[in-house]
Parts: sequence; C-alpha cells; structure tokens
Amino acid sequence: MAHTRKTAGSKKNYTQAQAPLCVKDLTVAYHRKPVLWDIDLTLPEGQLIAVVGPNGAGKSTFIKSVLGLVPRASGAISIYGKSYESQRHLVGYVPQRESVDWDFPVNALDVVAMGLYRQIGWFRPVNKNHRKKALDSLEKVGMANYAYRQISQLSGGQQQRVFLARALAQDARLYFMDEPFAGVDAATERAIISLLKELKSVGKTCVVVHHDLQTVPTYFDHVVLLNMRLVDAGPVETVFNEENLKKTYGGRLTLLTHALNEYAKTPQFPSNTD
Ligand SMILES: Nc1ncnc2c1ncn2[C@@H]1O[C@H](COP(=O)(O)OP(=O)(O)OP(=O)(O)O)[C@@H](O)[C@H]1O
Ligand SMILES: [Mg+2]
Repeated sequence: MAHTRKTAGSKKNYTQAQAPLCVKDLTVAYHRKPVLWDIDLTLPEGQLIAVVGPNGAGKSTFIKSVLGLVPRASGAISIYGKSYESQRHLVGYVPQRESVDWDFPVNALDVVAMGLYRQIGWFRPVNKNHRKKALDSLEKVGMANYAYRQISQLSGGQQQRVFLARALAQDARLYFMDEPFAGVDAATERAIISLLKELKSVGKTCVVVHHDLQTVPTYFDHVVLLNMRLVDAGPVETVFNEENLKKTYGGRLTLLTHALNEYAKTPQFPSNTD
C-alpha cells in the first residue's frame, strides 16, 4: 500500500527509507575536477523518471556513481534505505551504448544470461531455466531470432534491445537506463517506450537518461534536470518549464522553445501558470 501510485507527480509521503533512490550531498570528481556538485535528490517509486541535461552534464556519471562504478568524492546514496551494495539485486542497469565493448566475443543470449548471474551465482553454468528466461526476455524486445548472433554483429538498435532484455531478465525493482533511445529507429523507440510502460504498470521505477526534450512530457512522469549541479527535480508538470530548461541548457533556446511549444500542445500543460 505504501507503494500505490495513482497519478504522475502526486505528492506522496516518502520516507527516505522507502524511496528507490536517495542521494545526499553527492560530489563526484574525475582527476580532482568535480563534474557533479552537491546533488541532493529523492526519487519516487513506480514512476518513469527522465534525467535531462546537455552533453557532459554528468548524467552518466550520476548513474555510475549511484552504482558504485565511479568513486564519490563525498556524499551518501541509499537504495530503498540501504547501501547499493546490499540492494544490488534490486537494481538493473542499461549502460550508454558507447561505453560498452561490443567486440567482446559473446552472443546475444550470453549477454542476457549475464544479467542473471546474481541469481545463478558466478562460476555456475547457465541451466535450461536460465536460458529460457533469457530467451523470453529477448522475445519481449523482438530479438529472439538473434539469440545466437555475436553481439558485435548486431546493429546499434539491436544491441540496445539486447541490453534492455538483459535488464528485464534481472527482474529488478529499480532500473537505470542510460540513453536507451539513442540512435534507434521509430519502431525500436516505440518498443522501448511500451516496455517502460509495462515496467511501470507492474510497479517498477525507471530512471532514464533522455535527450529528446519534446518527448519528455509524453514519456515521463518525473524529471531530473542536471548540469553539474541539480537544477531541479520533480513531477514533469511542475518542473519541466522554460525557466528550468534555460538554467539547464543555457542559451540553446531554439531547441527549448520548440520543446516547450510541443509541450504546450499536450493536454496536461497548465494553461495559466503563475
Ligand atoms: N572517465 C572519465 N575521466 C575523466 N573525465 C570524465 C570521465 N568520464 C566522464 N568525464 C567527464 O565528466 C563530465 C561528465 O561526463 P558524463 O559522461 O557523465 O556526461 P553526460 O551528461 O552523460 O554526457 P552525454 O550526454 O554526452 O552522455 C564530462 O565533462 C566528461 O568529459
Ligand atoms: Mg552520458
């Protein structure tokens, strides 16, 4: 009951212990040069959450620091009230495509099965059930026919689908996806968004780095605006506005005006704010 969510952005009484992600005073630096400054953030459960910001804003770094893949200079992170290390089994991750070594000699099914290792245990062979689970996940993203194809021999969009299948197989409660829509065609984009909706419908929380400002209001409930610092975070209808976008993107106004015009056409846009 504490987890029922009715409307996007409805205010809920989250204690920080219940929140899928709670970040306090997070600072991350590469070679002593800070790229994320003093981030404080609590994310709601069961929603589709966009992380938005220009190239180099620290979006991937943010996710990696939550997952312990890059060290934090300071700050604390909790996943459902506990450390990431103890909650790892609840978290699925789809990395940004450019950060993956696609020459690694494995096929699509292996990649998906790797997502199951926490359930299987490392050094244990993948059994029939695991294989079936991996195949089911590939089926869900329309990639079952490519199960035995080397990952390096798939197109970019197909690789992206395989990584989504891997996250699905993990059966996580909280997903981090770093630009799953990057470089995919319209059909794959539709497949990904319906997958996200399906995950939401069964109560999962998805944190998705997203570059297309126009689709933020239609795809997402909640938004995190990031540019080294946290500009703002909250329900799309209150936080995704011109002032915040200007703060996030600086002068790139053509893009912004276009995005906001599109947003204004959507029914949920508040017609007379302030
Ligand atoms: N391993 C690294 N070593 C040094 N600097 C890094 C490293 N990874 C990222 N950076 C720098 O940190 C900053 C944030 O990078 P990050 O990849 O988090 O940005 P991003 O918001 O994900 O960008 P994009 O939209 O291009 O994916 C950038 O200035 C980048 O050059
Ligand atoms: Mg990135």
